[in-house]
Amino acid sequence: MSVYSEDSRKVTTHRLLEMKQRGEKIAMLTAYDYSMAKLIDQSGMDVILVGDSASNVMAGNVTTLPITLDQMIYHGKSVVRGVTRALVVVDMPFGTYQGNSKEALASAIRIMKETHADAIKLEGGSEIRESIQRILCAGIPVMGHLGLTPQSINKFGTYAVRAREEAEANKLKEDALLLQEVGCFGLVLEKIPAALAKEVTESVQIPVIGIGAGPHVDGQVLVMHDMLGITQAFSPRFLRRYANLQGTIIEAAQAYIHDVKSRDFPNEKEQY
Ligand code: KIV
Repeated sequence: MSVYSEDSRKVTTHRLLEMKQRGEKIAMLTAYDYSMAKLIDQSGMDVILVGDSASNVMAGNVTTLPITLDQMIYHGKSVVRGVTRALVVVDMPFGTYQGNSKEALASAIRIMKETHADAIKLEGGSEIRESIQRILCAGIPVMGHLGLTPQSINKFGTYAVRAREEAEANKLKEDALLLQEVGCFGLVLEKIPAALAKEVTESVQIPVIGIGAGPHVDGQVLVMHDMLGITQAFSPRFLRRYANLQGTIIEAAQAYIHDVKSRDFPNEKEQY
């Protein structure tokens, strides 16, 4: 039996819930532009995340903090144009939802109206409860994100594994229950011990998607540029590379340089 879904119907938050209930793993990958999103959607991916990791892999910033709402909307719109099946989730960027729940709602409405995405994702637990509730009240599906939350890198000071200590693990477990209680349709757990991720996954009914959170979650998410080997410097233990596009792209570019300089390109058939 093929593991790739032959069901061409649009993936919805409800279908993700059904997948968790029947024990079918959920595959989620980031994308930031039309062409790649189209290919990823054709692969049968369940969820495409327009991650604020666009700040790193598309814009070359060191952290996710600088990316703006306008830039996330640009990436979201481009991705949605290429997708017919996968559920598209857009990250709310740093500074657009943390302090003021009315501003959070306005930012989420802009994302939904201008990108036509299916849902938004934001980082944090009880601290942003009011923002999440206000967004949910407007009928916008929300995905939570706990554990390593890269928008708080300046507070953590490191990208090391989170919630190894009991106090932080307990707070994370409480936050996961709270996100479920307020109505989030799913949850990302980033870079936490596998045993803790398992406990959280078993304690909630909503789908839990892990990145560096071990195998006992309901699905996995990776950053496209990392898993395709476009980026090579970033090499955490949890990352599995499925291609070496960095090598492929450099080799192709060098072959082209060679052909231009040697006057091999264009040949007689490649001109008018
Ligand atoms: O921005 C992103 O790509 C993410 C994933 C790492 C989950 O939030």
